[in-house]
Amino acid sequence: MASLVISHHFILFSLFLLTCTLPATAQTYANLTQGTTLTPLGPTTSWPSPSGDFAFGFRPLDSNASLFLLAIWFNSTNPQTIVWFANGDNPVQAGSKLELTSDGQLSLTDQTGNEIWNPGVGSAPYAALLDTGNLILFSSPIWQSFSLPTDTLLPGQVLTPGSNLFSRFMDSNFSTGRFALAAQTDGNLVLYPVALPARNFYHAYWALGTMGSGSNSTLVFNMSGDLYYVLSNGNQMNITSTRTYSMEDFYRRATLDVDGVFTVYIYPKTESGKARWGDKWSVVTNIPTDICTRPTDFGSGVCGFNSFCVLENQRPDCRCPLSYSFMDSTMKFKGCKPDFEAQTCEIDESDSFELETVYGVDWPNGDYEHYMQVAEENCRSLCLSDCLCDVAVFRGGECWKKKLPLSNGMTGNVGGKLFIKVPKDNSSFPRPPTTIIAMERKNRSTLIPVESLLLGGSGFLNLILITAIFAIVYCYHKNRSMKKLDQDTTMLGLNLRIFSYKELEEATKGFSEEVGSGSFGAVYKGLLPGSESATSIAVKKLHRLHEDREKEFTNEVRSIGQTHHRNLVRLFGFCNEGTHRILVYEYMCNGSLPSFLFGSERPSWNKRVQVAMGIAKGLAYLHDECATQIIHCDIKPQNILLDENLIARISDFGLAKLLRTDQSRTSTGIRGTRGYVAPEWFRNTVITAKVDVYSFGVMLLEIICCRKNVEAEAGDEDRAVLTFWAYDCYREGSLDLLVGNDEEAMADMRMLETFVKVAIWCIQEEPSLRPSMKKVNQMLEGAVVVSIPPDPSSRGPISF
Ligand SMILES: *[C@@H]1O[C@H](CO)[C@@H](O)[C@H](O)[C@H]1NC(C)=O
Ligand SMILES: *[C@@H]1O[C@H](CO)[C@@H](O)[C@H](O)[C@H]1NC(C)=O
Ligand SMILES: *[C@@H]1O[C@H](CO)[C@@H](O)[C@H](O)[C@H]1NC(C)=O
Ligand SMILES: *[C@@H]1O[C@H](CO)[C@@H](O)[C@H](O)[C@H]1NC(C)=O
Ligand SMILES: *[C@@H]1O[C@H](CO)[C@@H](O)[C@H](O)[C@H]1NC(C)=O
Ligand SMILES: *[C@@H]1O[C@H](CO)[C@@H](O)[C@H](O)[C@H]1NC(C)=O
Ligand SMILES: *[C@@H]1O[C@H](CO)[C@@H](O)[C@H](O)[C@H]1NC(C)=O
Ligand SMILES: *[C@@H]1O[C@H](CO)[C@@H](O)[C@H](O)[C@H]1NC(C)=O
Ligand SMILES: *[C@@H]1O[C@H](CO)[C@@H](O)[C@H](O)[C@H]1NC(C)=O
Repeated sequence: MASLVISHHFILFSLFLLTCTLPATAQTYANLTQGTTLTPLGPTTSWPSPSGDFAFGFRPLDSNASLFLLAIWFNSTNPQTIVWFANGDNPVQAGSKLELTSDGQLSLTDQTGNEIWNPGVGSAPYAALLDTGNLILFSSPIWQSFSLPTDTLLPGQVLTPGSNLFSRFMDSNFSTGRFALAAQTDGNLVLYPVALPARNFYHAYWALGTMGSGSNSTLVFNMSGDLYYVLSNGNQMNITSTRTYSMEDFYRRATLDVDGVFTVYIYPKTESGKARWGDKWSVVTNIPTDICTRPTDFGSGVCGFNSFCVLENQRPDCRCPLSYSFMDSTMKFKGCKPDFEAQTCEIDESDSFELETVYGVDWPNGDYEHYMQVAEENCRSLCLSDCLCDVAVFRGGECWKKKLPLSNGMTGNVGGKLFIKVPKDNSSFPRPPTTIIAMERKNRSTLIPVESLLLGGSGFLNLILITAIFAIVYCYHKNRSMKKLDQDTTMLGLNLRIFSYKELEEATKGFSEEVGSGSFGAVYKGLLPGSESATSIAVKKLHRLHEDREKEFTNEVRSIGQTHHRNLVRLFGFCNEGTHRILVYEYMCNGSLPSFLFGSERPSWNKRVQVAMGIAKGLAYLHDECATQIIHCDIKPQNILLDENLIARISDFGLAKLLRTDQSRTSTGIRGTRGYVAPEWFRNTVITAKVDVYSFGVMLLEIICCRKNVEAEAGDEDRAVLTFWAYDCYREGSLDLLVGNDEEAMADMRMLETFVKVAIWCIQEEPSLRPSMKKVNQMLEGAVVVSIPPDPSSRGPISF
């Protein structure tokens, strides 16, 4: 182990932990006393914690049992799950031995008697494995395995400033792997790709964004199952909670997995739990949620060189492009190699090769040539005749060339065409029968003719109306036509309750307290029937649905119910009785975004930043991370609610498709949406999730500036429309005007500028210029640099 140096924070923290845990558990210690030994082949190979939940000892690494790991593991899960290990880089053979020696040293020796591992602290009279999974040596000072985490944190464990978790190399190879989670002394919590074998870090692929918050920030997985980052000033950045899964009924762990995703898991202890959740570890949270879209500066990215990453069941999976195959199919992350001889540069072989068009895959980095103002045909022949060119991208009259190795392969729309060079079909190079499988959900460009709708229109309002209807019809179809992914049973969910109308009538005291109304119908406050703690609910009575939709109601609601994200309003259940279609949500006590932003008191800059980031995360989840993509189609401040912790929660997602034919109602609802509607609704053009990005951009400006998008009384047109004014201020370098001399925001000028730039990128008239919500998140978090945005140029009358 390289990291045996125990920092003084460790000791402080260890002592702190011990003083908390010792008195309660002192009686239940089983002791490993001096002279006790464990050996890989017995008689004693491992040693249990008092409850039997954990064991410590030797684990065979291969089926032949020729190599062994000294480890701590969950002993009653299936399979048993290793949570800590001493000699990952140095597995030992049969004939090795672990002993608490007569002079109080815990020493692992190999079959020749050489010492492989020793915590290297003072003499310990005895040692104990606690029921928390913590191995303690009662030396002075005390040593504990919890202070030297490997790839996993357990409840009660912390990652102290300056220390890292490293993923293992492969599932069954515990050498240092390709990813690290660092609790940095600059106050940031960061995920890095690791350059092997040197173990230096490349550019981060995820960061919490708390850089500069002091040198004593600690990642805590506390005994209630909350995972959070405590900053030096004591502020707590909540990351995730498993508190709803009780300690008695579930095991839990937070592991930096082999694939680079930091994942929080639960495992049911009881039979009834197993029947419900499965006899396996289930994912509660993945960080980052889509690692495939996180490019790195050096190295291959999540997957190996020449391969590309596809998010499947929320996990990254590596694939090879057409005519390429894995270097080693048992280690997909090692990348892919071409199945053919490369084009030689000695003789002209351009006739033997052709370019295959690939949809939905991109290798964003590493272009070596860039031509402007060329036709697609030129682009193709420029690559074909260049023996170095392996991939070409053509987009809007521009052409880029790439050569091997390709890195950071991901699925996504390049916004143009990507060509990959392969040999012409030729008997000596048998072609695999399959074509490149891009993710279907990312390749659904559909052209919708709208001129016919728009031509008869009279006036702008009419247009908005038609657009609204169109938006809803469109979103409906879009979502319907999508391939339903297999329901992922590891994602917790499908926990919807079916309410009777009578129950809800009682819960809302006869629908007496109306707290809002919208395009869908009225909302009433109530109390969750049958809950001991008085949980408030928001009961949404939908207007009558079209007959077709009624049949779909349960299915659609189920797909809404499958969404689980801290920035979405949670659906508790529904009622589908007679003519009643009712949705029951958790109640958000802090109202909606307009009252937060435009109330009498200006909310603090920090709160606004948190709210904006929350909305961005929720939208990214809807677009790319939930099983069925959901385009909201009606992002506006009224649809952003705030919970008791002022965390932003998106509401009304997934409703557009339910209400598709309910034209008269939706038109009234959409009126307030003016100004958030993306310009492509008015054009004969492709509609994508980028419509939500546009609306988000407008809203982000409102959050930054605490003013409404359109303020007629603001004077000239350029000031009256926030999106125009914001760009003008940005271009003239007067961001202070935007925040009305808000001192807190001005002190945070870098973030302010980032936010404004991101907003301007989001409101680009050209949808393909707008970033995806994933990218927006990375930019807001500071994980990627935000380039200078062009003029969104959406002013002037909209032309048709
Ligand atoms: C563990 O060892 C210590 C010191 O020898 C002793 O005081 C304690 O009673 C032992 N506990 C058990 C459960 O054997
Ligand atoms: C671990 O569990 C197995 C049963 O799955 C049991 O046979 C074994 O004794 C346990 N080991 C320890 C060290 O408790
Ligand atoms: C397992 O052992 C057998 C015989 O000892 C040997 O031939 C084989 O290569 C071993 N396999 C592994 C994976 O070590
Ligand atoms: C684990 O992987 C490392 C890096 O490739 C390799 O050097 C080592 O031999 C592997 N260990 C085992 C036990 O296979
Ligand atoms: C660092 O933080 C820990 C826990 O948050 C605290 O116990 C310790 O006193 C702090 N150390 C310093 C030097 O501030
Ligand atoms: C864990 O942290 C939460 C705050 O996030 C707190 O409410 C809870 O009491 C903590 N639990 C323990 C055992 O410290
Ligand atoms: C974090 O969670 C705790 C407990 O749920 C809560 O008290 C606290 O306000 C939360 N902090 C933030 C910043 O959301
Ligand atoms: C197939 O490709 C090889 C290598 O490029 C070439 O030598 C051979 O002539 C090709 N055969 C045909 C039928 O094109
Ligand atoms: C992706 O979309 C294009 C049209 O935009 C289509 O030609 C192509 O077949 C689609 N690919 C897949 C795999 O669906």
